[in-house]
Amino acid sequence: MSFLKLEAVSYSYPNGFEATRDVSLSFELGEAVAIIGQNGAGKTTTVKLMNGLLRPTKGEVLIDGVSTKHVTTAQMSKHVGYVFQNPDDQIFQDTIEKEIAFGPKNQKLSATVVKEKVAAAAELCGLTDVLHEHPYNLSYSKRKFITIAAIIAMDPEVVILDEPTAGQDRESTELLGMIIKELAKRNKTVITITHDMEFVAKEFQRVLVFADKQLRREGTPREIFWDEQLLALSGLKQPYICQLAKAVGIRDVLTMAELGKKVRLHEKNSD
Ligand SMILES: Nc1ncnc2c1ncn2[C@@H]1O[C@H](COP(=O)(O)OP(=O)(O)OP(=O)(O)O)[C@@H](O)[C@H]1O
Ligand SMILES: [Mg+2]
Repeated sequence: MSFLKLEAVSYSYPNGFEATRDVSLSFELGEAVAIIGQNGAGKTTTVKLMNGLLRPTKGEVLIDGVSTKHVTTAQMSKHVGYVFQNPDDQIFQDTIEKEIAFGPKNQKLSATVVKEKVAAAAELCGLTDVLHEHPYNLSYSKRKFITIAAIIAMDPEVVILDEPTAGQDRESTELLGMIIKELAKRNKTVITITHDMEFVAKEFQRVLVFADKQLRREGTPREIFWDEQLLALSGLKQPYICQLAKAVGIRDVLTMAELGKKVRLHEKNSD
C-alpha cells in the first residue's frame, strides 16, 4: 500500500483561481521523486495539499491509507514535512540551533533527544559549525539548508523539498543530492520540486511533469527527457547532455559516459 496518496485532488484559491486540477498520485516509502514544470504550473500548490497547509477543494489525500479529511494540519505535518520554497517564510528563530530544535521540542521529546536530533540533522545538512549563528548570517541559498535540517529533525516519513536547488552552487547541489539519497536510504519518501534538469537526470528514478495545473505525465528521467513533444508542451528543456547528444544525432542518453560510449561506437562503425 502506498504511504501517501492523492485521489483526484483539485484546489482553488479563495479568490476562485484553480491552481491544481484532478491530480492522482501515489508515493512509496523509500523513493525519491522529482516534480518539474514551468512557473505557475501548480507544483507548490499540489505539495502543500500533501501536508495540510492547503486542503483540497475536490478529491482526497490519504496518509498511510487513512483519509486526512478530518485530520488536523498539525497531525498531517508529523508525517509529511514541507520545506518552504522561500526559506524566509519558514525561519523565525534567532539562532540556527533554535530553529532546528523547534520541531522536536514541540514533539515533547526530552532535552537530550532534542539535542541528538539537532546534532544529527545539522551534521547531515553541513551546519554543525554554524549552529550558534543567526540564520540571517548565512546566504539565502545556505538558509535553505537550515529549513531542510529543521524538517529532518522532526523525522517525518515524507520530506518535501520545494526548489532546494534554486541559487545553489555545485558543492551545495552535490550536498543536496547526498541528503536526498541518505533520506531515501532511511526509508523516507523524498519529493523534490526543481527547475534543475541536470539534477533530476542525476538524482532521481521517477519524475512527475506538471503543466497547466495538471500532472501531465510521469516516468523515468530517460523517458521524460527524450519525449520532446511532452517537453515542448510543458515548456521544459532537456538537460544539456541530451541537447548535446541530439546535436550530434544521438538519442536516449542521459550521462556523459553514455554519450561517450555511443560516440565511440559510432566512430568504430564508420571506420
Ligand atoms: N494565494 C494565492 N491566491 C491566488 N492564486 C495563487 C495563490 N498562490 C498561487 N497562486 C497561483 O496559482 C498558480 C500555481 O501556483 P504554484 O505556486 O502552485 O506554482 P508553481 O508550479 O509552484 O510555480 P513556481 O515554479 O513559480 O514556484 C499560479 O498561477 C499562481 O499565481
Ligand atoms: Mg512553486
